[in-house]
Amino acid sequence: MSTILQRQKKLLSIKNLTIRLRTRHGDIFPVQNVTCQIDEHELISIVGESGSGKSVFALSLARLLPEKRVHINANEINFLNYNLMNLPKRDWLKIRGAMISYVFQDSLVALNPHLTVGYQLTEPLKIHYKYSPEKLRQTAIDFLKAVQIPDPELQMKRYPHQLSGGMRQRVAIAMALISRPKLLIADEPTTALDATLQAQILNLFKKLHHEKPFTMIIITHDLSLVTGLCHRVWIMYAGKILETAPVPRLFHRPLHPYTYALLSLRKNMGSRKRLQSLPGNPPDLKIPLERCPFAERCPYTVKECYEEPISPKEMEPDHFTTCRRIINREIELSV
Ligand SMILES: Nc1ncnc2c1ncn2[C@@H]1O[C@H](COP(=O)(O)OP(=O)(O)OP(=O)(O)O)[C@@H](O)[C@H]1O
Ligand code: SF4
Ligand SMILES: [Mg+2]
Repeated sequence: MSTILQRQKKLLSIKNLTIRLRTRHGDIFPVQNVTCQIDEHELISIVGESGSGKSVFALSLARLLPEKRVHINANEINFLNYNLMNLPKRDWLKIRGAMISYVFQDSLVALNPHLTVGYQLTEPLKIHYKYSPEKLRQTAIDFLKAVQIPDPELQMKRYPHQLSGGMRQRVAIAMALISRPKLLIADEPTTALDATLQAQILNLFKKLHHEKPFTMIIITHDLSLVTGLCHRVWIMYAGKILETAPVPRLFHRPLHPYTYALLSLRKNMGSRKRLQSLPGNPPDLKIPLERCPFAERCPYTVKECYEEPISPKEMEPDHFTTCRRIINREIELSV
């Protein structure tokens, strides 16, 4: 799939998003000054090591973070014609589930153990559309078939604990897609599954996107999902997006030392290996940084890296980096 998508209509536009989160150990800034844009039908992957802010960023787009502990600041978060920065609660109820859906890493988070699969699957349709009972049932069966659940009529009557992990995850994906959202956010949807099921889910996303295109942000450590499915990739580190590029270009010619280090760690491109961790630690998230957050671990650091703010620069079509030394053509990376 990983071809460059023709430019479509803009779906989501974010300017200078910073998130402050209150924790037991004080406030942290897990997302810092993120600016990005997603077009309709694009499949974007967010890649970065553990703790880089991928989930907090994604959860914030669906307003799924604990409200009392979170402060979201941005110059702009526009989704279609909605300004998500000051959207009233009742409008969020219309958008979440109908236009923006979320697939969690663990399907048990998404599924209610006390309700049957059929009830849960049809719930978004009952809330957002006025379907007749027969149309509800038929739509649910169609979606269970689409996610390759065997004997869907029987599974409709079952409870989540009666299904295998792989089946539950596919039900969760069907639930997220049943109301035909404009944006699907999937946070590590295959991490808990074995290799065969991971491949099935990858093919499922491809098939569903081919049949009726949707936009997806997929957070993953699984490089085969990135290369096999996505158009563009964002590299996230310490709350910031350090590089974005069309998938083939990023793997062929990374333009940030952090991306380069991540890719150098991969043993076998295209295999199911997860990204490994780099030696050293990322910076403390208690203080938001304007300068490059990778300076402490980067082999190319110079004094200016600690002193000057970073901002993305387009070096090739659609390929942005924030590394000042790459931007100034002082260093070159080759894979
Ligand atoms: N509910 C929470 N309470 C306290 N700290 C949190 C909470 N959620 C996230 N954090 C912190 O915010 C930072 C970013 O976390 P996040 O879960 O977004 O990382 P991630 O990139 O998704 O990592 P992973 O790949 O492990 O899922 C981390 O330092 C994490 O400890
Ligand atoms: S800006 Fe400096 S520290 Fe950051 S990645 Fe580039 S060379 Fe390394
Ligand atoms: Mg996460």
